[in-house]
Amino acid sequence: MHARVVAATVAAVLGTAPLLSPGSDARAGGVGEPTVIAHRGASAYAPENTLASIDKAAQLGFTWVENDVQRTKDGELVVIHDDSLQRTTNVAQVFPGRARWKVKDFTAAEIARLDAGSWYSPAYAGTRVPTLQQYMRRVEHNHEELLLEIKNPELYPGIEQQTLKLLGNEGWLDHEHLDRLIVQSFSADSIRTVHELKPAITTACLGTPTVAQLHQYARFTDLINPSYGSLSKGYVSAVHAFDGPHGRPLRVFTWTVNDATTARKATGYGVDGIITNKPDVVRAALGSE
Ligand code: G3P
Ligand code: CA
Repeated sequence: MHARVVAATVAAVLGTAPLLSPGSDARAGGVGEPTVIAHRGASAYAPENTLASIDKAAQLGFTWVENDVQRTKDGELVVIHDDSLQRTTNVAQVFPGRARWKVKDFTAAEIARLDAGSWYSPAYAGTRVPTLQQYMRRVEHNHEELLLEIKNPELYPGIEQQTLKLLGNEGWLDHEHLDRLIVQSFSADSIRTVHELKPAITTACLGTPTVAQLHQYARFTDLINPSYGSLSKGYVSAVHAFDGPHGRPLRVFTWTVNDATTARKATGYGVDGIITNKPDVVRAALGSE
C-alpha cells in the first residue's frame, strides 16, 4: 500500500485527517478554499442547463459551471438533465401525441422549437435547449470553465467519442484549454473510455466508490465526486491518498450543496470543490466575498 494511503487511513481512523486537501484550488477564492461550481449553471436563479444559466453564473462572478450532455434522435449533442423533455420544456403542449417525450426520440429541429424557460419563470420565456456546440461557444464567450457531465451514456452508444470530437472541433482539447475542462459521469465505464480516448483530459467519476475500489478508479479518473450525503472526512482523506492518472492526488468535488451550513461542513471535510445551485450562498459561507 502507498505510504500516503497508510497515513491517510490512520489519520481517518484517529480523526486527525487534515482540514484542507493538497488538491484544493486557490483560484476559486481564498487560499485553500474549495472551487465553487455552478450546478447546471446558476440554476437557482435561471433555468437549468440553458445559456441564461451560465450567463447568470458569469454575472455572479463564477467561472466554473456544470452541465449535462445527451443526444437527439438525429445525433445532435444537447444540454439537458433529464432523459425526458417533459420537466424542463413545453414539449407536452407542442407535441401532445408523443408521450414519454424522451430526448433520444426527438430530432434537434424538434427540440429547437421548445421553450425551456417558461417552466422556470415567464421572464425566461423563449429560452431554448442549447446544443452542446452553442453551449461551448457561450462558455468560451463568458471565459468560463466547464465540468461536463455525460448523462445516461448507456442510452447513447459512442457518446464519449462524439463529445470529444465536438470539444476538439471547438478547440477545447487544445493544450491551453485543457485545464478549463473536466469530463464526469456516473458511469465509470464511460469515464474510462474518455480517459482511453484522450488521456490528457481531466476526468471525474460521480458517486462514492468504496475505499477498496479507489485504486482501480485512480487509473483513469482524477476526481471522485460524491453526493454530500455520502461524504465523511475520512472518505475525503482516503480519496486524497491516491494519485490519479496524471500523478496528482485525486480530488473531491461534492454535490449538491445549497446552504451555508452544509458548505462549511463540506469544507471542513477537506473537499476540493462544491457543486451548487446557489454559488453566491456557498461563496458567502466560505467567507471569500
Ligand atoms: O455534478 C454533480 C451532479 O450534477 C450530479 O447529479 O443528477 O444533478 O446530474 P445530477
Ligand atoms: Ca449533472
